[in-house]
Amino acid sequence: MTAMLDSLERNTFSLIAPAKINLALHVTGRRSDGYHLLDSLVVFAHFGDKLSVKRASADSFEMSGPFGRHLPDDGSNLVLKARDALRQYFPEQATPVAIHLEKYLPIASGIGGGSSDAAATLRALTALWGIEAEPAQLAEIGLLLGADVPMCLHGQPLVARGIGEDIERLGSFPHLPMVLANNGVSISTPQVFAALERRDNPPLPAMPALSSVDDVCVYLAETDNHLFSATEKLTPAIGDTMKALQNTAPRLVRMSGSGGTCFAIYDSDSEAETAAATLKQSKPDWFVVATHSITEGN
Ligand code: C5P
Repeated sequence: MTAMLDSLERNTFSLIAPAKINLALHVTGRRSDGYHLLDSLVVFAHFGDKLSVKRASADSFEMSGPFGRHLPDDGSNLVLKARDALRQYFPEQATPVAIHLEKYLPIASGIGGGSSDAAATLRALTALWGIEAEPAQLAEIGLLLGADVPMCLHGQPLVARGIGEDIERLGSFPHLPMVLANNGVSISTPQVFAALERRDNPPLPAMPALSSVDDVCVYLAETDNHLFSATEKLTPAIGDTMKALQNTAPRLVRMSGSGGTCFAIYDSDSEAETAAATLKQSKPDWFVVATHSITEGN
């Protein structure tokens, strides 16, 4: 998770809830409860939703931003689920809170918007309420909210195994210039998992030290996103996003999570910015953003 942006006499905390990018996602098995076993190399983007929590006389929740109107603001919202779950564990400290979410990430789009919002809510409220939860306890609460929430609590390059909760943080990782693009298709993650043809793929190959964009792209060429063919079968329009990114001459193009957001990797931030500007011009109604991966310290 990126650092707290501000704290005003500890009455307000604001956080960025970054986009989660599955650079590689291998489906290696399925548990008896139906959840899939994964092996995924994950980074977080320097771009995301903005969450603010503030002491108040009564609970409230507001959303704004380009995707703020696309989400319910009732109890099904992961932000409120996270607030309520934390409150159940720590009822004494959990005073009323006003929460504001500025939604910049498209909904249900494979970049963990909801999971990252939930993780940011847990982080911000533990700070506001002065809760000293162990990271493992926060991860446990996070996992109740969604398989990707524990990894979003880290917000740093990592490998996630199990159903996503078994996390190995990668100490150092190269700065990856990227473009994220989504043409607005709506994709159901459970449907994508249900449509998989294979669930017994090999795990990610052993990872050598990766110290440049080139190293990462060479490694990623040996990996895959095993959800892609199922997503493409259910939603052929995902191919348009892949093609449009491919046309910007990147090092690599791939879908994140179950889609529909796809990412492209470039050698430099300026190439990513040029590619995003070109793509935005030809597809003004798409979600397109130039960004880069968050690495330790930036
Ligand atoms: O945990 P979360 O609610 O984010 O997952 C959404 C859906 O994605 C699950 O209900 C399940 O169908 C599928 N899923 C899965 N295996 C995972 C993660 C998610 O089958 N490891």
